[in-house]
Amino acid sequence: MKLVVTGGAGFIGSNFIKYILEKYPDYKILNIDKLTYAGNLENLKEVEFNSNYKFLKKDICDLDIEDFIDNYDVIINFAAESHVDRAIYQPDIFLKTDIFGTFNLLEVSRKKNIRFIQISTDEVYGSIEEGSFDEKAPLNPSNPYSSSKAGADLLVLAYFKTYRISVNVIRSCNNYGPHQYPEKFIPLMITNALEDKKLPIYGDGLYKREWIFVLDNCKAIDVILHKGKDGEIYNVSSEFSITNIEVAQKILKLLGKKEDLIEFVKDRPGHDRRYSIKCEKIKKLGWASEIDFETGLGLTIKWYIENKKWWQKIKENKQFLSHYKKTYKK
Ligand SMILES: NC(=O)c1ccc[n+]([C@@H]2O[C@H](COP(=O)([O-])OP(=O)(O)OC[C@H]3O[C@@H](n4cnc5c(N)ncnc54)[C@H](O)[C@@H]3O)[C@@H](O)[C@H]2O)c1
Repeated sequence: MKLVVTGGAGFIGSNFIKYILEKYPDYKILNIDKLTYAGNLENLKEVEFNSNYKFLKKDICDLDIEDFIDNYDVIINFAAESHVDRAIYQPDIFLKTDIFGTFNLLEVSRKKNIRFIQISTDEVYGSIEEGSFDEKAPLNPSNPYSSSKAGADLLVLAYFKTYRISVNVIRSCNNYGPHQYPEKFIPLMITNALEDKKLPIYGDGLYKREWIFVLDNCKAIDVILHKGKDGEIYNVSSEFSITNIEVAQKILKLLGKKEDLIEFVKDRPGHDRRYSIKCEKIKKLGWASEIDFETGLGLTIKWYIENKKWWQKIKENKQFLSHYKKTYKK
């Protein structure tokens, strides 16, 4: 199989590329990535010289992108602006990449008859006080990131209905694991704790998320790639949920640090209280989450301890956003 993976230099995309090249030694992957602040070719060092892997530095919004995509079976679109805090102070780039970029790739799919898999998020459903959303739930996003992703999902599904191109939409809960950019919640907590810096927690810290170890999500995408039913949306979650404050406390405990490193900061506007999704559809395809939160968190902490140079270089960069409080401009 020949795959185009967009955004493959980021967190989930790079884990996915390495997983696929190892599992299917005859598959070929073209990774198209603009290398924004979040893209990092160091994430792909292990496959850099693999003859089945190619890298193209390119923006998914470039109108000539179709000239670079010939004879591929599937486009898997991971490329996105993905950080909610950044979406609050710079929404335009989210609309551009997440909506227009997806549209631009859908056009390539349409013209060249290539199957399209959109990597989306549980955030498109918005907050739910109790219970969980299945794939039929209406979309109710709360911020420019989740609304851009929702817009992209709707376009993908419209291309299925209008042009009959083959599509899937995959909506996963929060991922964590190696190579996640340290602005995101879990790596921010781990790396700040390792540096004895404060751990910023929004509001009262009782915001609840479901967390999946990135490898489990890569396996889910693999299952959908091979067994997904055309035109279908699939939710992907471990169904394990925990509050932000509890995650921070667990990390501090595992690192032997004191809880007084926790600092409550002014809340993020439009902050969804709780996300939760049902995953019966993907379970019917034979997928199940394998790595529990304690194990996954332990593996993640170990990776950040062993790869200090990777994240210290990122945190020293001017583009690094330590948290919303310092950066939001009216
Ligand atoms: N991380 C999560 O918890 C999570 C959960 C659910 C869904 N998702 C979705 O999964 C996908 C990947 O997320 P991630 O956490 O790996 O993100 P990331 O921010 O780590 O990586 C995004 C990648 O996309 C690239 N990119 C950004 N704009 C681009 C453009 N215009 N053209 C080409 N490349 C571009 C970046 O350089 C980077 O390599 C995103 O679509 C995100 O919405 C993420």
